Amino acid sequence: MYKIAIIPGDGTGPEVTAEAEKVLAVAAASGGFIYEATRFDFGGDRYLRTGEVLPASAVDELRRFDAILLGAIGHPDVKPGILEKGILLQLRFELDLYVNLRPVKLYPGVETPLKDKGPEHIDFVVVRENTEGLYAGAGGFLKKGTPDEVAIQESINTRHGVERCLRYAFDYTRARDRAKTLTLVGKTNVLTYAFDLWERAFHEIGAAEYPDIKRDYAHVDATCMWMVKNPEWFDVLVTDNMFGDIITDLGAMIQGGMGIAAGGNINPATVSMFEPIGGSAPKYTGQGVINPMAAIAACQMLIAHLGESKAAARVDRAIAHVLSTKLKSMQAGRMGYSTAQVGDLVAAAVADG
Ligand code: IPM
Ligand code: MN
Repeated sequence: MYKIAIIPGDGTGPEVTAEAEKVLAVAAASGGFIYEATRFDFGGDRYLRTGEVLPASAVDELRRFDAILLGAIGHPDVKPGILEKGILLQLRFELDLYVNLRPVKLYPGVETPLKDKGPEHIDFVVVRENTEGLYAGAGGFLKKGTPDEVAIQESINTRHGVERCLRYAFDYTRARDRAKTLTLVGKTNVLTYAFDLWERAFHEIGAAEYPDIKRDYAHVDATCMWMVKNPEWFDVLVTDNMFGDIITDLGAMIQGGMGIAAGGNINPATVSMFEPIGGSAPKYTGQGVINPMAAIAACQMLIAHLGESKAAARVDRAIAHVLSTKLKSMQAGRMGYSTAQVGDLVAAAVADG
């Protein structure tokens, strides 16, 4: 019996997680596994009510689950940064979810803004380091608020943090078993300390432990160019936290937008948290128009992560079926169906196998 924590969160988060749960229930019934879902009310409303972003007990409680499904964090009445830092980033750091795994896959029937590119060209995975780099919060102000003020924001790259992220990426590339090519995305021509460490670790680990995996390197700016021009060149990409944040928004756009983009915050040894990567889209709250596919795709990753590979494959086929035969658009309000109807369609397709 799996223990699954659900954090619906803010805005449209609860609506999309409800559809993901619908699909999870059918996937479990047809896939022969059982689970118990526990809901947590972390988010903007709770913060406005109690003044607390994350209760002190939250991290220890969540550690006891097999997986976490997160809807969205971000509330229009809360100053930007408070909830993102206090909940999302806090959970990533405290639970030590050191990999952010973001598949960039164009499903058949989904529109991409890339001219002359189709599903055969857009199918790669970004492994983003998720606990270090510029996100570590190192730095500070000097003489803040004066004409002489200085702001420093440092990128923290530890050998340990970089190595475990690289090993995850090499293992993933091997298991994915496609082009067996791992591309390190960096900026070795300018960031000559941080990416020097990354590059040395990449080649040392690759040569010693993963001789079957081809190693490639691309600067982050060139990567943006290739993702638009020749996305078919990529198999698996590995990069630091900030670059990974940026290139995965570009990735989300070429795979059809935030309506479909999902990711996992992963610690392979403990608990992992899966989420649609778009925000809480507050303006659509309660209208039943938001696309739940990204949350359903996050749930698919969660099921795969539990090791229920047959059920995960079933959900993936169901997503592909509904996207190619039903949905008119990925955009909120333009799907041709309501949020709940899209959930029903995927759930029915899962039941059909
Ligand atoms: C993401 C988001 C977060 C990040 C924000 C909300 C803190 O953009 O998951 O990519 O920067 O990591
Ligand atoms: Mn982001």
